[in-house]
Amino acid sequence: VIFHSSQEASVLVAQEIANIIQRKEELNEPCVLGLATGSSPIKVYEELVRMHKEDGLNFTNVVTFNLDEYYPMDKDNIQSYYQFMHEHLFNHVNILPENINIPDGKVSSEDLHQYCIDYEMKIKYLGGLDFQLLGIGRTGHIGFNEPGSHINSGTRSITLDHLTRVDAASSFLGIDNVPRKAITMGIGTVRNAKRIVLLGWGISKAGIIKKTIEGEISSRVPATYLQEHSNTTFVLDTEASSEL
Ligand code: GLP
Repeated sequence: VIFHSSQEASVLVAQEIANIIQRKEELNEPCVLGLATGSSPIKVYEELVRMHKEDGLNFTNVVTFNLDEYYPMDKDNIQSYYQFMHEHLFNHVNILPENINIPDGKVSSEDLHQYCIDYEMKIKYLGGLDFQLLGIGRTGHIGFNEPGSHINSGTRSITLDHLTRVDAASSFLGIDNVPRKAITMGIGTVRNAKRIVLLGWGISKAGIIKKTIEGEISSRVPATYLQEHSNTTFVLDTEASSEL
């Protein structure tokens, strides 16, 4: 779906998320949301915060799982996805702290493997993700599933691509400060979501959006695996869709 502005598109995506939250609340069931970081979802979070403050959108039945976190990364570090999510969403809505799940960038290397298995199990135990919000990196990654990621991959640690680290360099004040690794939900984790919305804004995403939507399905562009998901929508602005 192509919109003139990311603002207009983000309001509609937030509305869809709010509808799922309310439907699940009526059913007295947890609403399990997979959430993304980066600049792409910021306006969606702004709108969800507005709906909470002005329309009383209630988050007490919401359980969230963030896609990824740099590794190693301290929660208190301003570059952490932990801080990002609190600044843009969690500090402004009535979600219960125990319902927030963000990969722990400080888990020890010995515990990392089991930690990832547990993260995956926690999602499964709740019945899977009702909704997964995604951005896309210029390598074609979703979460931090870089080229080479397997279609059935689960939550795990991953080595970041050089281009991903280049793109993150400005927020880390130089590429040397960007961590070389991350913890990410897998392609399989994401593809198990009942509904997926990928956001793509701006001309810098036009090339990778074309490969993702029109290219051959391949681990070289992990986002192409979404072509085979039955309930995925790519929500784009005019610039991001300009090469389609
Ligand atoms: C990071 C995140 C991804 C995000 C991507 C794009 O790599 N791990 O989840 O989709 O950046 O970021 P942006 O939305 O800022 O373009």
